Amino acid sequence: MIERPRGTRDFLPDEMEKRRAIEVRFREIAESYGYREIATPTFEHLELFTIKSGESIVEEIYAFKDKSGRDLALRPELTAPAMRLFINECSVMPRPLRFYYFGNCFRYERPQKGRYREFWQFGVELIGSERVEADAEVIILAYRMLKSLNINFDLQIGHVGILRSILENVDEEKSSKIMRLIDKKDYDGLASYMDEAKIPEDVQENVFQVSALHGGREVLNEAEGFTGRENLQYLNGLCDILDSTEIEYTINLGIARGLDYYTGMVFEIYAEGLGAQKQICGGGRYRLAHLFGGEDVPSTGFAIGFDRVSEICKISAERRKLVVIVNFPDTLKESLEIAEKLRSAGLRVVSDVMGRNVRRQLSHASDIGADYAIIVGKKEINEGAVGVKDLHTGIQKSVAINELTEYLT
Ligand code: HAM
Repeated sequence: MIERPRGTRDFLPDEMEKRRAIEVRFREIAESYGYREIATPTFEHLELFTIKSGESIVEEIYAFKDKSGRDLALRPELTAPAMRLFINECSVMPRPLRFYYFGNCFRYERPQKGRYREFWQFGVELIGSERVEADAEVIILAYRMLKSLNINFDLQIGHVGILRSILENVDEEKSSKIMRLIDKKDYDGLASYMDEAKIPEDVQENVFQVSALHGGREVLNEAEGFTGRENLQYLNGLCDILDSTEIEYTINLGIARGLDYYTGMVFEIYAEGLGAQKQICGGGRYRLAHLFGGEDVPSTGFAIGFDRVSEICKISAERRKLVVIVNFPDTLKESLEIAEKLRSAGLRVVSDVMGRNVRRQLSHASDIGADYAIIVGKKEINEGAVGVKDLHTGIQKSVAINELTEYLT
């Protein structure tokens, strides 16, 4: 028996229906904010992902050489591809640009509940604005999308500029490692790494103090003295907008984000019921375009971990009624005609392809959870009618063929 590769999943119809139902809601909401869908290739030049994060990221992604020796990678996320697309195809389009995407991503991670090697992201990128209104818009959008699923979650907003300003005199490699340890909340690892990297005592102390700042917007006052006024003013401006909506959030200045490209506001959304992998959305303000040969365009965006929200969300897809057409050998032609007519009327209709007798067709109809069985018998057909059995009540009636659609819908 050949099994699927580690960290990947199969989806059966029930689950796919639910995923599609979630996807439809997300698309509708993103589109209602003026976002339009883009799609990019599943694999890209490896460089697209190493250019900002360095070669060490290669350990975490599916990188390979093709038959001509090109270095390629399966996309670990969609922000860098979206920015590449923007520079390649859209740099002259009117700004800001509002894009959304839904696609599979690949990371070479240690699989566990909620963490896969192939997973799906639904995300948006708002390209071309550096204003706080843009950040507010993407946060509100993420919030609305998740609220539409009736799940409970916790939105936390931070600003990487604050930790970065503390690490201003630390070289980039070290500060990036420090940010990653903060992101992982590995504070023991952080303490020993900062000692090892000879980070000055006062800087270490400040890193710990700022990472611990978490609460209502008043914690911004406590951050004064650790960073320039600008970052705090920015977050205050963002809070002003968010406070004029019903959106609930907390400020968490310890949010460092795992990816290196963030430059300002960052946010993460967590949900219960997922165990350790409870982050269902992450995003923030970043600059990437200039690294890919374009101008330095300010952008902001987020991605929702689709597999994680699907795991906790209880919505069920609206299914059309399922009808089984039961035929006799001498009514095959009529039963196929009736089936087509009902399909056109919006019902889901299946008919026998196994050569089963009537009794077994009926029991199969119950086995697959059909709502109705339509029994197409020669005598009744000649009278312009069929037998309709309601499989929930077991009651059977004779219904005129020209009233059948109305009867079933
Ligand atoms: P990220 O935080 O790396 O950000 O991923 C976004 C979301 O994808 C996470 O919050 C999580 O729910 C989900 N996710 C990540 N890794 C896995 C995994 N191995 N299995 C299942 N779900 C996973 C980004 O990727 C950024 N590109 C987001 C962004 C867009 N920032 C600006 N624009």
